Amino acid sequence: MSDNKVTNPTQYSDNPSLTDLCEKRYSRRAFVKTGVALGVAAATLQLTGCGDPEETRLATAKVDDEWRNKSPYRSKFDFIEIEHGIDENHHVAPDHTADVLLRWGDPIFKDAPEFDVDNQSAASQSKQFGYNNDYIGYLSLKPGRGQEARALLCVNHEYPIHGLMFPDFGLDLRASLTEEQAKVSMASIGASIVEVALQDGQWQVIRNSRFNRRITALDTEMEVTGPAAGHPRMRTSADGKGRKVIGTFNNCAGGMTPWGTYLTCEENFNYHFTGKSPTNHPEAENHRRYNVPTDLFHWGKFDKRFDVGAEPNEPNRFGWVVEIDPLDPTSTPKKRTALGRFKHEGGENVIAPDGRLVVYMGDDQRFEYVYKFVSRDPVDLENPRKNRDLLDHGTLYVAKFYEDGFLEWLPLTHDNGPLQTQFESQADILIEPRRAADLLNATPMDRPEDIIPNADTGRVYVNLTNNTKRTEGNVANPRPANVFGHVIEISEMDSDFAGTRAYWDILVKCGDPENPGHDAQWNPKTSEHGWFASPDNGVIDPSGRLWIATDQSDKTGLSGTADGLWALETSGPLRGTGRMFFRVPEGAEMCGPIFSDDGESLFLAVQHPGDQKRPGAARIKSATTTWPDFTEGKPPRPSVVVVRKTNGGKVG
Ligand code: FEO
Ligand code: CA
Ligand code: CA
Repeated sequence: MSDNKVTNPTQYSDNPSLTDLCEKRYSRRAFVKTGVALGVAAATLQLTGCGDPEETRLATAKVDDEWRNKSPYRSKFDFIEIEHGIDENHHVAPDHTADVLLRWGDPIFKDAPEFDVDNQSAASQSKQFGYNNDYIGYLSLKPGRGQEARALLCVNHEYPIHGLMFPDFGLDLRASLTEEQAKVSMASIGASIVEVALQDGQWQVIRNSRFNRRITALDTEMEVTGPAAGHPRMRTSADGKGRKVIGTFNNCAGGMTPWGTYLTCEENFNYHFTGKSPTNHPEAENHRRYNVPTDLFHWGKFDKRFDVGAEPNEPNRFGWVVEIDPLDPTSTPKKRTALGRFKHEGGENVIAPDGRLVVYMGDDQRFEYVYKFVSRDPVDLENPRKNRDLLDHGTLYVAKFYEDGFLEWLPLTHDNGPLQTQFESQADILIEPRRAADLLNATPMDRPEDIIPNADTGRVYVNLTNNTKRTEGNVANPRPANVFGHVIEISEMDSDFAGTRAYWDILVKCGDPENPGHDAQWNPKTSEHGWFASPDNGVIDPSGRLWIATDQSDKTGLSGTADGLWALETSGPLRGTGRMFFRVPEGAEMCGPIFSDDGESLFLAVQHPGDQKRPGAARIKSATTTWPDFTEGKPPRPSVVVVRKTNGGKVG
């Protein structure tokens, strides 16, 4: 889901220099369009901060050549592509199976009731798989007897759709919601941790696993940690110390740390607040910048803490990255304030050459920014407990893109230029990193979603989903009215993920390359089904290959296809070629692609099947699909699907 409002004040005025830069840069981008092979002799590139783009390209080609160890003309993917289309079911590439593993409402505890849409209660929902599955984390466990593999799936549940959750829900969403429904709604959101096991080639849910856990917006207590913990702006009437928060919500994407914890990221938290910000309140400008409140779910009708008039600091306690230890079901989830407060998409991460952890993060709203966090201390893989508070200390950076293909990571630290005088403390910067990034002239982007590092290549893939409010391009977001989105590749200098200098390039401009109106750029080898629109989530598989999942929202009519999962070549002569692998049922978006460690299983999250283009319009009786149960009169159910190769081997 997306917040369509523009709240970045730097975008209210023209910035002619950026437009000029865009035009200048774009004239040099033809090589992507023409698909010129990158396998050319390398040149050594000296960093000047204003390097020649041709040299940048040659240096890029050198890394590609070195990384490639097979015939450069062979695809790294080995599957027959499926076709674009929209219908009520899901579709996967031939020679693969796609089985539904976990549906909204499936019991995940021994004593959990079976799903009964007509009699849901907060108590039953708290013991069942949540709604609108998004990110999936995979944590391998040691196989038990008769099992080929065991793992914990760590699954985000982003947001509720009351019209598809409650039978005969009224037209007026606020008036129709009852107090018990609000509690069911809050219990359906957050996260699920579920043990799964591979038995005779089939994944099963282990319902009595001691690891299974629901984390909800309703009643899971969380600890606030890091520089903003305890700050007066984090205190409320229920929590005078500013260190304890009930719940997490709008958990979009996430990440798994190298020490086995699960990062779940709070995105459009503004949708969960109601009321009116008090006039001249010190948080009024902060609320405006984050579009707080935007009352979509009406929980504030029954719970005063979601009413910003009563609790103006409560929104400061959301918009964080939450770290959860899935191996300890009694552990308290921690909101890690060192990673900043914004509309977090994901938290994909990688260990830098010096051992520190780097977390890449997008702020998913129009004209917002790309960030990374670099830990102060190195990761200790020998003693996982030593990493317990690693995410409380480090530096948050924001990206500034330059027209010559250079990128600089700017530290959002209190000693940095204007931040010294415009903010009282580091905690204030972390509560409002958007305003800090404005002051440093970071590059406003076209809705940054997942940002995916490839540990083997030093490359990082930035999914920019779209921005139809842009009237003129800037250096890294060249299309005005960017309907279809694009993917940027960042090459960290010397493959040092912790460094502050990098190169960047556009890998693909999404949309139909055959339609001149789309202004798309793909490798010409891309077939009529290989192109996609609105890249959102992504993953690097165990073979180092990039996969992209899409979320077109109300724009499927423009592409003619439902969302899905595509393979995307990143190197060699096929660089920039897409290939369609999986398609979701009508109304859904594709989330959570994650592979098992051996690459033989792929877990996918089908979110909001049967939803309508107009938000709030969907009702059970008129749902566009009843996937995956196909029971008339019953609701569609967001579900996790597992893909395997029919005769074994690596997926895709
Ligand atoms: Fe929840 Fe940015 O997608
Ligand atoms: Ca999205
Ligand atoms: Ca997303």
